[in-house]
Amino acid sequence: MTDDFLPIQGIDHLELYCGNARQAAHFYQTGFGFAPVAVSGLETGNRRAASYVMAQGEIRLVLTAALGPDDPIARHVQLHGDGVAVIALRVPDAGAAYRATTARGATGAIPPTEAADDHGVLRFAAIRAYGDTLIKFVDRAGYRGPFAPGYESRGGEQPGAGVGLAAIDHIVGNVELGAMNRWVAFFAQTMGFSQLVHFDDADITTEYSALMSKVMQDGTGKVKFPINEPAEGQRKSQIQEYLDYYHGPGVQHIACATGDIIGTVRQLRDNGIEFLRVPAAYYDELTARIGPIAEPVEALADLGILVDRDEEGYLLQIFTRPVGDRPTLFFEIIERRGSRGFGKGNFRALFEAIEREQARRGNL
Ligand code: FE2
Repeated sequence: MTDDFLPIQGIDHLELYCGNARQAAHFYQTGFGFAPVAVSGLETGNRRAASYVMAQGEIRLVLTAALGPDDPIARHVQLHGDGVAVIALRVPDAGAAYRATTARGATGAIPPTEAADDHGVLRFAAIRAYGDTLIKFVDRAGYRGPFAPGYESRGGEQPGAGVGLAAIDHIVGNVELGAMNRWVAFFAQTMGFSQLVHFDDADITTEYSALMSKVMQDGTGKVKFPINEPAEGQRKSQIQEYLDYYHGPGVQHIACATGDIIGTVRQLRDNGIEFLRVPAAYYDELTARIGPIAEPVEALADLGILVDRDEEGYLLQIFTRPVGDRPTLFFEIIERRGSRGFGKGNFRALFEAIEREQARRGNL
């Protein structure tokens, strides 16, 4: 049951604030296969920050670093480390999206704004979401440039080879203990999202650590935002570890869809991207648990890809280690073969793998 007061055309981009955006761009290009498509910085007349727009499939990441110490971008990085600062949604009318959401209780961050250059007019606005994360509404109908006014095309540069990442499947937020339902209500009431599924501690308690999760999605089902909060366990929840190092709520992981997870993960591994590993025994029981699948189990076991099945089909997924120094943001690679779930059957094996990493960090 959804309302159409906030029509969403898709995820426009994610903006990550970084300590060194030029080096982050190199990592996302050579590691994850993104191609540089546009830049903004001193050379384009931007005196405040440097930004690199990296694209692959329908995914756009914007990597931004401040050029001075007193900028809010610099303060964001000082507090949170590198992380997702802006979730940008493409909408037909940014001003209407801002008015509709703020009228329903959202806190405004950027009032409806028009930016223009030779390529046309880009309209945008933003509201506050969990922690210091913004949700930005972007209307591109009047704009034909490489990304946004102030950006120049980076065509002619050597493009990233691409590893087959096609689109963003979901974006997960971690919030404080007791705050999950407030943010579920935020997405329901101010954005018209509906709850797709929830997981409680019965689903996902391991020996030590626990969390609760609810998945909110927009009316089209294209935009999915799971929200996690820590649950009481014998030891520190992985969500609490994130909150301690991010210094507040924020985006925990970005799930990218691929149509060929074996090919994608093989390339990512060859590029040096590190993944969480489950014990080899996971694959001994896989066929008995999952039933027949198209992919060879040996290849999945070699790469560490996990599989889960529900009534609608199955999915394959794998999680990277955190991509920065702090145990905060990581990526998921997911291939859906009918299932619209989130891999509930893998939670135990996965969270035990995370706990082994937490223990190595001295945080369990
Ligand atoms: Fe996920």
